[in-house]
Amino acid sequence: MFMLAIESTCDETAAAVIAANRSVLASRIASQQPIHDRYNGVVPELAARAHLERIVPMVRNVLEESRIDPFNDIAAVAVATEPGLPGSLLVGLSAAKALCIAWGKPLISINHVQAHIYACQIGRSCSIFPCVGFVVSGGHTNLYHCDSPCSWRYLGGTIDDAVGEAFDKVAVMLGLPFPGGPNLSQLAASGNPRAHSFPRPLLAERNSLNLSFSGLKTAVRYHLFGTGKQDFTSLNISAQNRADVAASFQQAVIDCIAGKAEQAVAATNLSRLCVGGGVCANLALRSRLESMSQKIGCELVLAPPELCTDNAVMGALAWEKYHLQEFSPLEIDIQPGLMRGK
Ligand code: KG4
Ligand code: ZN
Repeated sequence: MFMLAIESTCDETAAAVIAANRSVLASRIASQQPIHDRYNGVVPELAARAHLERIVPMVRNVLEESRIDPFNDIAAVAVATEPGLPGSLLVGLSAAKALCIAWGKPLISINHVQAHIYACQIGRSCSIFPCVGFVVSGGHTNLYHCDSPCSWRYLGGTIDDAVGEAFDKVAVMLGLPFPGGPNLSQLAASGNPRAHSFPRPLLAERNSLNLSFSGLKTAVRYHLFGTGKQDFTSLNISAQNRADVAASFQQAVIDCIAGKAEQAVAATNLSRLCVGGGVCANLALRSRLESMSQKIGCELVLAPPELCTDNAVMGALAWEKYHLQEFSPLEIDIQPGLMRGK
Protein backbone atom coordinates (compact mmCIF):
# COMPACT_ATOMS: atom_id res chain seq x y z
CA MET A 1 0.00 0.00 0.00
CA PHE A 2 1.03 3.59 -0.58
CA MET A 3 0.60 7.00 1.03
CA LEU A 4 -0.13 10.09 -1.04
CA ALA A 5 1.46 13.02 0.82
CA ILE A 6 0.74 16.68 0.07
CA GLU A 7 2.77 19.69 1.25
CA SER A 8 1.66 23.30 0.75
CA THR A 9 2.54 25.09 4.00
CA CYS A 10 4.51 27.98 2.50
CA ASP A 11 5.70 28.54 -1.07
CA GLU A 12 6.43 25.04 -2.39
CA THR A 13 3.62 22.88 -3.77
CA ALA A 14 4.74 19.29 -3.34
CA ALA A 15 3.30 15.79 -3.61
CA ALA A 16 4.81 12.34 -3.14
CA VAL A 17 3.81 8.70 -3.25
CA ILE A 18 5.54 6.75 -0.48
CA ALA A 19 5.46 3.00 0.17
CA ALA A 20 4.89 1.54 3.64
CA ASN A 21 8.62 0.74 3.84
CA ARG A 22 9.24 4.50 3.24
CA SER A 23 10.63 4.01 -0.26
CA VAL A 24 9.60 6.84 -2.56
CA LEU A 25 7.80 5.99 -5.81
CA ALA A 26 7.45 9.57 -6.98
CA SER A 27 8.09 13.04 -5.61
CA ARG A 28 7.51 16.44 -7.19
CA ILE A 29 8.07 19.97 -5.92
CA ALA A 30 6.83 23.06 -7.75
CA SER A 31 8.76 26.12 -6.63
CA GLN A 32 7.13 29.54 -6.59
CA GLN A 33 10.46 31.35 -6.56
CA PRO A 34 9.89 33.49 -9.68
CA ILE A 35 6.61 34.76 -8.23
CA HIS A 36 8.08 36.00 -4.93
CA ASP A 37 11.50 37.03 -6.28
CA ARG A 38 10.69 40.68 -6.87
CA TYR A 39 9.28 41.10 -3.34
CA ASN A 40 12.35 39.58 -1.62
CA GLY A 41 10.04 37.36 0.40
CA VAL A 42 6.93 35.19 0.23
CA VAL A 43 3.68 37.10 -0.40
CA PRO A 44 0.96 34.96 1.29
CA GLU A 45 -1.89 35.86 -1.09
CA LEU A 46 0.23 35.09 -4.16
CA ALA A 47 1.48 31.87 -2.56
CA ALA A 48 -2.08 30.61 -1.98
CA ARG A 49 -3.11 31.38 -5.55
CA ALA A 50 -0.01 29.70 -6.95
CA HIS A 51 -0.77 26.58 -4.89
CA LEU A 52 -4.24 26.52 -6.46
CA GLU A 53 -2.68 26.41 -9.93
CA ARG A 54 -0.06 23.79 -9.06
CA ILE A 55 -1.72 21.35 -6.67
CA VAL A 56 -3.70 19.30 -9.20
CA PRO A 57 -0.81 18.93 -11.69
CA MET A 58 1.54 17.94 -8.85
CA VAL A 59 -0.80 15.21 -7.58
CA ARG A 60 -1.54 14.02 -11.11
CA ASN A 61 2.18 13.87 -11.91
CA VAL A 62 3.12 11.70 -8.92
CA LEU A 63 0.15 9.38 -9.47
CA GLU A 64 1.08 8.89 -13.12
CA GLU A 65 4.78 8.46 -12.37
CA SER A 66 4.17 5.89 -9.64
CA ARG A 67 1.68 3.99 -11.84
CA ILE A 68 -0.55 3.13 -8.91
CA ASP A 69 -4.30 2.78 -8.89
CA PRO A 70 -5.43 5.14 -6.12
CA PHE A 71 -8.66 3.25 -5.45
CA ASN A 72 -6.83 0.00 -4.73
CA ASP A 73 -3.29 1.01 -3.79
CA ILE A 74 -3.57 4.13 -1.62
CA ALA A 75 -3.85 3.53 2.13
CA ALA A 76 -4.49 7.16 3.11
CA VAL A 77 -3.98 10.76 2.02
CA ALA A 78 -1.60 12.79 4.19
CA VAL A 79 -1.39 16.57 4.27
CA ALA A 80 0.51 19.13 6.36
CA THR A 81 -2.14 21.15 8.21
CA GLU A 82 0.10 23.06 10.65
CA PRO A 83 1.91 25.40 10.97
CA GLY A 84 2.11 27.57 7.87
CA LEU A 85 0.47 30.34 5.86
CA PRO A 86 -3.34 30.09 6.21
CA GLY A 87 -4.19 30.41 2.52
CA SER A 88 -1.46 27.96 1.52
CA LEU A 89 -2.54 25.38 4.12
CA LEU A 90 -6.18 25.65 3.02
CA VAL A 91 -5.32 24.72 -0.57
CA GLY A 92 -3.45 21.55 0.46
CA LEU A 93 -6.06 20.48 3.00
CA SER A 94 -8.98 21.07 0.63
CA ALA A 95 -7.29 19.05 -2.10
CA ALA A 96 -6.57 16.22 0.35
CA LYS A 97 -10.16 16.18 1.60
CA ALA A 98 -11.51 16.03 -1.96
CA LEU A 99 -9.25 13.08 -2.80
CA CYS A 100 -10.27 11.26 0.39
CA ILE A 101 -13.94 11.63 -0.53
CA ALA A 102 -13.38 10.61 -4.16
CA TRP A 103 -11.31 7.52 -3.30
CA GLY A 104 -12.97 6.63 0.02
CA LYS A 105 -9.68 6.87 1.94
CA PRO A 106 -8.82 8.16 5.42
CA LEU A 107 -7.17 11.54 5.95
CA ILE A 108 -3.99 11.97 7.99
CA SER A 109 -2.99 15.46 9.08
CA ILE A 110 0.64 16.07 9.82
CA ASN A 111 2.64 18.75 11.56
CA HIS A 112 5.14 20.33 9.18
CA VAL A 113 7.74 20.92 11.91
CA GLN A 114 7.56 17.29 13.08
CA ALA A 115 7.87 16.26 9.43
CA HIS A 116 11.10 18.30 9.10
CA ILE A 117 12.58 16.22 11.94
CA TYR A 118 11.17 13.01 10.44
CA ALA A 119 13.10 13.77 7.21
CA CYS A 120 16.11 12.47 9.20
CA GLN A 121 14.43 9.05 9.34
CA ILE A 122 14.07 8.68 5.56
CA GLY A 123 16.48 6.13 4.13
CA ARG A 124 17.50 4.75 7.55
CA SER A 125 16.52 1.32 8.79
CA CYS A 126 17.06 2.00 12.53
CA SER A 127 14.74 4.33 14.39
CA ILE A 128 16.11 7.83 15.04
CA PHE A 129 13.99 8.07 18.21
CA PRO A 130 14.45 9.08 20.99
CA CYS A 131 16.45 12.15 20.01
CA VAL A 132 16.92 15.86 20.35
CA GLY A 133 15.12 17.22 17.28
CA PHE A 134 16.26 20.58 15.95
CA VAL A 135 14.31 22.33 13.18
CA VAL A 136 16.22 25.14 11.47
CA SER A 137 14.03 26.62 8.74
CA GLY A 138 12.63 29.82 7.34
CA GLY A 139 9.78 29.80 9.86
CA HIS A 140 11.19 27.87 12.83
CA THR A 141 14.29 27.43 14.93
CA ASN A 142 13.08 25.04 17.58
CA LEU A 143 14.55 22.34 19.80
CA TYR A 144 12.46 19.37 20.94
CA HIS A 145 12.86 16.32 23.12
CA CYS A 146 11.42 13.71 20.74
CA ASP A 147 10.42 10.40 22.34
CA SER A 148 8.84 9.03 19.19
CA PRO A 149 7.83 10.38 15.73
CA CYS A 150 4.66 12.03 17.03
CA SER A 151 5.44 12.66 20.68
CA TRP A 152 7.67 15.58 21.54
CA ARG A 153 8.32 18.26 24.14
CA TYR A 154 9.42 21.81 23.34
CA LEU A 155 12.81 22.62 24.84
CA GLY A 156 13.46 26.09 23.46
CA GLY A 157 13.67 28.07 20.27
CA THR A 158 14.03 31.49 18.76
CA ILE A 159 12.40 34.32 20.64
CA ASP A 160 12.27 36.49 17.51
CA ASP A 161 13.40 35.75 13.93
CA ALA A 162 13.84 32.22 12.62
CA VAL A 163 17.34 31.44 11.42
CA GLY A 164 16.33 31.14 7.74
CA GLU A 165 14.53 34.45 8.02
CA ALA A 166 17.76 36.06 9.29
CA PHE A 167 19.69 34.53 6.37
CA ASP A 168 17.11 35.86 3.92
CA LYS A 169 17.05 39.38 5.42
CA VAL A 170 20.84 39.74 5.57
CA ALA A 171 20.96 38.47 1.98
CA VAL A 172 18.67 41.35 0.95
CA MET A 173 21.09 43.81 2.64
CA LEU A 174 23.93 42.28 0.65
CA GLY A 175 21.96 42.66 -2.59
CA LEU A 176 21.55 38.91 -3.13
CA PRO A 177 18.51 37.44 -4.90
CA PHE A 178 15.67 35.59 -3.13
CA PRO A 179 15.79 33.07 -1.52
CA GLY A 180 18.74 34.53 0.29
CA GLY A 181 19.94 31.58 2.37
CA PRO A 182 21.57 29.47 -0.37
CA ASN A 183 22.94 32.57 -2.15
CA LEU A 184 24.42 33.98 1.05
CA SER A 185 26.08 30.68 1.91
CA GLN A 186 27.59 30.54 -1.58
CA LEU A 187 29.02 34.04 -1.14
CA ALA A 188 30.26 33.18 2.36
CA ALA A 189 32.39 30.37 0.92
CA SER A 190 34.80 32.98 -0.50
CA GLY A 191 34.84 35.18 2.62
CA ASN A 192 36.73 35.24 5.90
CA PRO A 193 34.46 34.14 8.77
CA ARG A 194 36.71 35.95 11.28
CA ALA A 195 36.78 39.28 9.41
CA HIS A 196 34.01 40.81 11.53
CA SER A 197 32.89 39.96 15.04
CA PHE A 198 29.09 39.89 15.06
CA PRO A 199 27.16 39.06 18.27
CA ARG A 200 26.10 35.52 19.27
CA PRO A 201 22.85 36.35 21.13
CA LEU A 202 21.89 34.06 24.06
CA LEU A 203 24.75 31.66 23.33
CA ALA A 204 26.34 32.29 26.72
CA GLU A 205 22.97 31.81 28.52
CA ARG A 206 23.60 28.24 29.51
CA ASN A 207 20.40 27.84 31.51
CA SER A 208 18.17 28.54 28.50
CA LEU A 209 17.75 26.74 25.19
CA ASN A 210 16.31 29.82 23.52
CA LEU A 211 17.92 31.51 20.55
CA SER A 212 17.67 34.98 19.03
CA PHE A 213 18.64 36.26 15.59
CA SER A 214 17.04 39.69 15.40
CA GLY A 215 19.93 41.50 17.13
CA LEU A 216 22.49 39.72 14.95
CA LYS A 217 20.60 40.79 11.83
CA THR A 218 20.50 44.40 13.09
CA ALA A 219 24.22 44.31 13.91
CA VAL A 220 24.95 43.38 10.29
CA ARG A 221 22.65 46.17 9.11
CA TYR A 222 24.39 48.81 11.25
CA HIS A 223 27.76 47.50 10.11
CA LEU A 224 26.79 47.89 6.45
CA PHE A 225 24.67 51.03 6.49
CA GLY A 226 25.24 52.79 9.81
CA THR A 227 22.35 53.78 12.07
CA GLY A 228 20.91 56.55 9.91
CA LYS A 229 18.50 56.26 7.00
CA GLN A 230 19.15 52.97 5.24
CA ASP A 231 18.86 52.24 1.57
CA PHE A 232 19.67 48.59 0.84
CA THR A 233 20.13 49.36 -2.86
CA SER A 234 23.09 51.66 -2.17
CA LEU A 235 25.60 49.24 -0.64
CA ASN A 236 29.03 50.38 -1.75
CA ILE A 237 31.65 47.91 -0.52
CA SER A 238 34.21 45.73 -2.28
CA ALA A 239 33.31 42.22 -3.43
CA GLN A 240 35.75 40.79 -0.86
CA ASN A 241 34.25 42.81 2.00
CA ARG A 242 30.77 41.65 0.97
CA ALA A 243 31.93 38.03 1.10
CA ASP A 244 33.62 38.66 4.47
CA VAL A 245 30.39 40.06 5.95
CA ALA A 246 28.46 37.06 4.61
CA ALA A 247 31.00 34.63 6.06
CA SER A 248 31.16 36.41 9.43
CA PHE A 249 27.36 36.51 9.71
CA GLN A 250 27.10 32.84 8.78
CA GLN A 251 29.78 31.98 11.34
CA ALA A 252 27.85 33.76 14.11
CA VAL A 253 24.70 31.81 13.13
CA ILE A 254 26.57 28.51 13.06
CA ASP A 255 28.11 29.16 16.48
CA CYS A 256 24.63 29.81 17.92
CA ILE A 257 22.99 26.75 16.30
CA ALA A 258 25.82 24.35 17.14
CA GLY A 259 26.18 25.80 20.65
CA LYS A 260 22.48 25.46 21.52
CA ALA A 261 22.35 21.97 19.99
CA GLU A 262 25.25 20.97 22.23
CA GLN A 263 23.55 22.49 25.28
CA ALA A 264 20.29 20.67 24.42
CA VAL A 265 22.05 17.30 24.21
CA ALA A 266 23.69 17.95 27.58
CA ALA A 267 20.41 19.11 29.18
CA THR A 268 18.37 16.11 28.00
CA ASN A 269 21.01 13.41 28.37
CA LEU A 270 19.94 12.07 24.99
CA SER A 271 22.66 10.61 22.81
CA ARG A 272 21.22 11.42 19.38
CA LEU A 273 20.72 14.77 17.64
CA CYS A 274 18.52 15.00 14.52
CA VAL A 275 18.51 18.22 12.50
CA GLY A 276 16.20 19.17 9.63
CA GLY A 277 14.72 22.22 7.88
CA GLY A 278 15.92 24.40 5.01
CA VAL A 279 18.97 25.88 6.77
CA CYS A 280 20.26 22.35 7.42
CA ALA A 281 21.12 22.32 3.69
CA ASN A 282 23.95 24.72 4.59
CA LEU A 283 27.23 22.84 4.12
CA ALA A 284 29.21 24.88 6.64
CA LEU A 285 26.55 24.26 9.29
CA ARG A 286 26.45 20.53 8.50
CA SER A 287 30.20 20.19 8.87
CA ARG A 288 30.23 22.17 12.14
CA LEU A 289 27.44 19.98 13.57
CA GLU A 290 29.49 16.92 12.58
CA SER A 291 32.59 18.12 14.43
CA MET A 292 30.57 19.26 17.47
CA SER A 293 28.80 15.89 17.71
CA GLN A 294 32.08 14.00 17.42
CA LYS A 295 33.55 16.16 20.18
CA ILE A 296 30.72 15.43 22.65
CA GLY A 297 30.22 11.78 21.56
CA CYS A 298 26.67 12.18 20.31
CA GLU A 299 25.18 10.48 17.24
CA LEU A 300 24.25 13.07 14.61
CA VAL A 301 21.56 12.49 11.99
CA LEU A 302 21.15 15.24 9.43
CA ALA A 303 18.20 15.27 7.04
CA PRO A 304 19.41 14.33 3.53
CA PRO A 305 20.25 17.61 1.73
CA GLU A 306 17.41 17.20 -0.80
CA LEU A 307 14.91 16.71 2.05
CA CYS A 308 15.97 19.77 4.10
CA THR A 309 13.88 22.35 2.27
CA ASP A 310 10.13 21.82 1.96
CA ASN A 311 9.09 18.60 0.23
CA ALA A 312 6.32 16.00 0.48
CA VAL A 313 8.56 12.97 1.12
CA MET A 314 8.94 13.94 4.77
CA GLY A 315 5.17 13.38 4.89
CA ALA A 316 6.20 9.71 5.29
CA LEU A 317 5.62 10.63 8.93
CA ALA A 318 1.99 9.82 8.09
CA TRP A 319 2.85 6.11 7.99
CA GLU A 320 3.67 6.33 11.72
CA LYS A 321 0.25 7.84 12.35
CA TYR A 322 -1.38 5.27 10.07
CA HIS A 323 -0.01 2.44 12.18
CA LEU A 324 -1.34 4.18 15.30
CA GLN A 325 -4.72 4.60 13.52
CA GLU A 326 -4.44 8.37 14.04
CA PHE A 327 -6.79 9.57 11.33
CA SER A 328 -8.39 13.00 11.07
CA PRO A 329 -12.08 13.69 10.49
CA LEU A 330 -12.91 15.41 7.21
CA GLU A 331 -14.15 18.42 9.23
CA ILE A 332 -10.61 19.16 10.39
CA ASP A 333 -9.39 22.76 10.11
CA ILE A 334 -5.89 24.16 9.54
CA GLN A 335 -3.69 25.34 12.47
CA PRO A 336 -1.60 28.15 10.97
CA GLY A 337 -0.04 29.46 14.21
CA LEU A 338 3.53 28.85 15.29
CA MET A 339 3.33 25.50 17.02
CA ARG A 340 5.89 24.94 19.72
CA GLY A 341 4.98 21.37 20.65
CA LYS A 342 2.64 19.39 22.79
O1 KG4 B 1 12.32 24.41 5.48
P1 KG4 B 1 12.15 25.48 4.47
O2 KG4 B 1 12.17 25.08 3.01
O3 KG4 B 1 10.82 26.27 4.69
C1 KG4 B 1 10.28 26.52 5.95
O4 KG4 B 1 9.64 25.61 6.53
O5 KG4 B 1 10.52 27.66 6.43
O6 KG4 B 1 13.31 26.55 4.74
C2 KG4 B 1 13.51 27.65 3.91
C3 KG4 B 1 14.64 28.48 4.49
C4 KG4 B 1 14.84 29.80 3.76
O7 KG4 B 1 14.94 30.83 4.72
C5 KG4 B 1 16.13 29.59 3.00
O8 KG4 B 1 16.85 30.79 2.78
C6 KG4 B 1 16.88 28.68 3.94
O9 KG4 B 1 15.89 27.76 4.39
N1 KG4 B 1 17.97 27.94 3.29
C7 KG4 B 1 19.27 28.11 3.58
C8 KG4 B 1 19.99 27.26 2.71
N2 KG4 B 1 19.11 26.61 1.92
C9 KG4 B 1 17.87 27.04 2.29
N3 KG4 B 1 19.88 28.88 4.51
C10 KG4 B 1 21.22 28.84 4.58
N4 KG4 B 1 21.99 28.06 3.78
C11 KG4 B 1 21.43 27.26 2.84
N5 KG4 B 1 22.19 26.50 2.05
ZN1 ZN C 1 9.51 23.86 6.11
